[in-house]
Amino acid sequence: MSGTRSRKRVAVVPGDGIGREVIPAVRQVLEAVADQREGIDFEFVAGEAGDGVKERTGTALPEETRELVIGADAALFGAAGETAAEVIIPLRRAIDAFANVRPATAYPGVGALQPETDLVFVRENTEGIYAGHETELAPGVTTLTRVITAEASERIARYGFEYAAEHDYRVTVAHKANVMQTTDGQFLESVARVAEELGAEYETALMDALAMELVRDPTDYGVVICPNLAGDVLSDLAAGLVGGLGLLASANVGPERALFEPVHGTAPDIAGQGVANPAAAILCGAHLLEYFEFEAAGADVREAVTETLSAGLQTPDLGGEASTDEVTAAIVERL
Ligand code: IPM
Ligand code: MN
Repeated sequence: MSGTRSRKRVAVVPGDGIGREVIPAVRQVLEAVADQREGIDFEFVAGEAGDGVKERTGTALPEETRELVIGADAALFGAAGETAAEVIIPLRRAIDAFANVRPATAYPGVGALQPETDLVFVRENTEGIYAGHETELAPGVTTLTRVITAEASERIARYGFEYAAEHDYRVTVAHKANVMQTTDGQFLESVARVAEELGAEYETALMDALAMELVRDPTDYGVVICPNLAGDVLSDLAAGLVGGLGLLASANVGPERALFEPVHGTAPDIAGQGVANPAAAILCGAHLLEYFEFEAAGADVREAVTETLSAGLQTPDLGGEASTDEVTAAIVERL
C-alpha cells in the first residue's frame, strides 16, 4: 500500500465551500506532524474539483485532478457542492476505493445524543445503487438497477472483518434481504462465506431496525458492514448521535491508495465565515497517518483533537464560539 519511499505524495483537493477552509487546516496539522517527526515527510500537490471549476471550465472533475489523485499515495478531498456526485463517485472509482470506512466516535465534553457511541461503518463503496443504472423508461416511469456482486461483497466483508479484528470490535452486517431477497441475499451469502473462511463471528440486522437500535443504544454495536446506500444513510444517522457531521471523517480505501474526506458537505450556510469545524478533516489526517503506518503520529492527532474538543474549544456547530483557525491552532499546539 504505502511502499517504502519515505516521502509520501498527497493530492489535496479542497473543492467548494467549507472544503476550502477545513482542508488547509488538516494540511497545517500534517505539516506540523512532519516537522516534528523524523521519517515523516509529505509532498502536497494541489488539484481543483467541484462547482467552481465546473463554472469556469465546464467540468467538475478535470482530468488533471483525476490523474493527480491516481498519481499520489493518498488524497485529501474537502467537499463539492451541486457537483458532489460528479466528483466523488468518479474519484472513488479512479482508485478502486472499494471500502468506505466511517468511524463515528463521541467525544467527552461534546454534546452528543449518545455519549458512549463508538461505531465504525464499513461501507461497500463501488456498487449497489451507485452503479449508475438509472433509467427513464417512459415519461413518469423510472427504474434503478441495484448491482450486488459476490466479488464486491466478499471484498468488503473481508475488509470489515479484518478491520474489526484489528481494532477489537464486534461485527454487525446490515441488510434488507427480507425485501431485496436476491441482491441482499447474495450479499449475506458472500459475508457468510468470508466469515467462515476467517473464523469470524458476526450478527446480521435489518437496516431499518438497526437504525432504530443505533439511536436507542449504540453501545451494542461496533463495526457495521453495509451495502453502499445503507452505509451512506446509517453513517449520517451516527453523525447525529455524536454531535453532527462536523466530527465524521471517512476513508475511501482502494488496493493501492486511499482518499480521505470529511463526511460533511460544503455547508453553504456557513462557508466563508471561518467557523467551519475542522475536526472531521483533521481526523481524516489522523487516518491518513495511520494508513501510512505512522500509527503513533495518528494517535497523537486523535488525542489532540479529543483534548481540544473536550476542553470546550468548539466551533458553533457543536455549540461553541471558536473559529476554524482557533480550533486548528489549539490542535497543532497540543501535538
Ligand atoms: C457521502 C455523500 C456522497 C455519497 C454523495 C455526495 C455522492 O453523501 O459521501 O456520504 O452518497 O456517497
Ligand atoms: Mn452521505
